[in-house]
Amino acid sequence: MKLTVIGCGYVGLVTGACLAAAGHEVHCTDIDAKRIDMLKAGKVPIYEQYLDEVLNRAVAEKKIHYTANTGEAIRAGEVIFICVGTPPKESGEADLSAIDHVAREIATQANGAKLVVEKSTVPALTGVQLQKALAAYSQNGPIKFDVASNPEFLREGTAVADFFHPDRIVVGVEDQRSAQMMREIYAPILERRFHCPVHEGQCPVGVSGELLITTINSAELIKHASNSFLALKISYANVISDLCERIGADVEQVTHAMGLDPRIGTQFLKAGLGFGGFCFPKDIQAFIHLAGTVGVDFDMLKAAEKVNKQRIDRYFEKIHKALWVVRGKRVAVLGLAFKANTDDIRFAPALEIIRRLLEEGAEVHACDPEAVNKTRAVFPSVKYHEDPYEGLRAADAALVCTEWKIFRELDWERAGKLMARRLVIDGRNLYSPDKMQELGFDYHSFGRPQ
Ligand code: UGA
Repeated sequence: MKLTVIGCGYVGLVTGACLAAAGHEVHCTDIDAKRIDMLKAGKVPIYEQYLDEVLNRAVAEKKIHYTANTGEAIRAGEVIFICVGTPPKESGEADLSAIDHVAREIATQANGAKLVVEKSTVPALTGVQLQKALAAYSQNGPIKFDVASNPEFLREGTAVADFFHPDRIVVGVEDQRSAQMMREIYAPILERRFHCPVHEGQCPVGVSGELLITTINSAELIKHASNSFLALKISYANVISDLCERIGADVEQVTHAMGLDPRIGTQFLKAGLGFGGFCFPKDIQAFIHLAGTVGVDFDMLKAAEKVNKQRIDRYFEKIHKALWVVRGKRVAVLGLAFKANTDDIRFAPALEIIRRLLEEGAEVHACDPEAVNKTRAVFPSVKYHEDPYEGLRAADAALVCTEWKIFRELDWERAGKLMARRLVIDGRNLYSPDKMQELGFDYHSFGRPQ
C-alpha cells in the first residue's frame, strides 16, 4: 500500500521504516527541511537501535522516499500517518497546533480520498476535532477523509523491536473500510513478512500481537490509560521504597515478590529516580487535564506525578547526608539520558540533578554513551567525558542517574582507586550494597538497607 508519514521524529521514522520493511511504499515528509536533507544523505537524526539499518535497507529497496514538499507526500499516499509532536502547554494540556496545521495541509493539498491516521499521542476526542477540521479546511469539498487512531506503544531504545513484535496493535475506526485498510497495513507485521534486524530471521515463535479494532475515542484513551497506569506503578514502587528505608526493609525483595503475582507483574516496579522522558511526564499531565475538562477527578494520577517530582528531592537528601557540603566538590554524574539505550534527555532526571548541583556550586563531570552532545548544549559549563573512568577521576562522589550497561558493568575497584573519595549515590539501584561495601565504598541507593 502507498503510505505517507508526516513528521520525521522518533515515532515517524520508526513507523515509516518498519512499514517500509513490511513491504509498503512509504513517503516521509517533515516541516524541517534540514532533517529531510539529512535523511536523504543517509544520516539518521536520532539514535535508536536498528533504525539506521532498517532505513538504509528500505532506501536501497526504494521502499522509502523523503521529501520536504508536504503536498507531494500527501498526494503520494492513500493512508497518511500523522506523527508530529504534541508537547505540553503550561497548563499540562497537550498542544495540538501541529496536528491542526497538518490537517489544513492534508485538506488543501490532497487530490483524492485519504485515510488520516493519528499516530501522535493525543488526548481523547482529538479524532472528532480532526474529522471536523479536515471537513472545514477542505470547505466540505468532494474529497472524502476518514480518520483512524493508531496509538503507538513503542519504548525508546527498543522501538524497532517493539514495532516488529507488538503485544497489541490498537486501531480505532468508525467504518469497515478503514478497518480493512489498517488490517492490510499491519498484516505483514502480524504474519512476520519482513526482515527482522533484531533476531536476524530467528524471531521467537509464538509471540505474536493481536490487532484490536476499537472506536476512535477508545483507542485514544487506551494510549493515555496505559502510559498513566505504568507511571502509577513506578510511583507506587517509589513510595514503597521510601517506606522500606524508614522500616529497614529491602525494596528489591518486596517488589520482586509482589511482581511474581501475575495480577501485578514484575515490570515497572523499579524504584529510584522516577520516570522521565517525553512520554510519561507529559501524558500523565494531559490525562489529568482531559479528566478535568470532562469533570472526572483523577487525584490518583496527580499523586503519582507529585511522588515522581519528589524523587529528586529524596536524591538530594541522600547527597547532602553523604557528601555534606556540595560547594567546591567534584561530582561525577554517570548517565544523562532519561533511560538507557537512547540519546533522549527530555525530562531526564539527570538534567534536574545537574541543574541543582551547579546551583549549589559543584564542579560537575558527566558521562553518557549517547547523550553528551545534547546535554552540552544545555549545560556548557559541565565537563564531559567519553570514558567513565576519566569522569570518575578525582571525584568526591559518583551519582548514577541512568542504567546504561557500561555503568552496570563498571569495575568499581579500578574506579575507587581513581576517585578522591569512595562515595557512590546510586539513583538506579544498579549495584549490590554488600559488594560496594566490601570494596570500601560509602554506598547509597533507594529503598535498600545500607
Ligand atoms: C513509554 C511507554 O513504555 C511506551 O509503551 C510508550 O509507547 C511510550 O512511553 C510513548 O508514549 O511513546 P518510554 O518513554 O520510551 O516508553 O520509556 P519507558 O521504558 O516506559 O520508561 C519511562 C521512564 O520510567 C524512564 O525514565 C525509566 O527510567 C522509568 N522507569 C521505568 C522507572 O523509573 N522504573 C521502572 O520500573 C520502569
